Amino acid sequence: MTERRLLLVNGPNLNLLGTRQPEVYGSTTLAEIEARVAQVAKEAGLAVRAVQSNHEGELIDAIHAARSDCAAIVINPAAYSHTSVAIADALRSVGLPVAEVHLSNIHAREEFRHHSYVSAVAEMVVAGAGPLGYEMAVQYLADRLAQ
Ligand code: DQA
Repeated sequence: MTERRLLLVNGPNLNLLGTRQPEVYGSTTLAEIEARVAQVAKEAGLAVRAVQSNHEGELIDAIHAARSDCAAIVINPAAYSHTSVAIADALRSVGLPVAEVHLSNIHAREEFRHHSYVSAVAEMVVAGAGPLGYEMAVQYLADRLAQ
């Protein structure tokens, strides 16, 4: 059997992790998060394709492409969480299990961050655990796919 793959999607401004508002998002870079996700997934027998984009349409294209070769999606939609019906619809359209991650606790921040369109599509949501949240999402999906 070919190795199963997770799609890891990170939305706008997350390419700047490490230097972007470290008091909110910490000092871990996106490259470090992607490496850690790949390691945790590998230990669970899963491969990872990591995508980051600052463009809504590119994120949607990456989600659509997952249909052909991914078993599940880990996504931090960043600010698009709060605005994008299109990304939520793309996730709904591919029909794969989705885990939504936010580094910060969006519920403890400004009111406009409290609602995420993606949460209605996600099986699990983790917010406020920092980079560890990505590992939790991978572990959830590995367990879910093993069932
Ligand atoms: C974020 C929270 C969003 O509100 C924000 O726009 C981000 C990052 C997080 O990981 O905490 O860019 O998704």
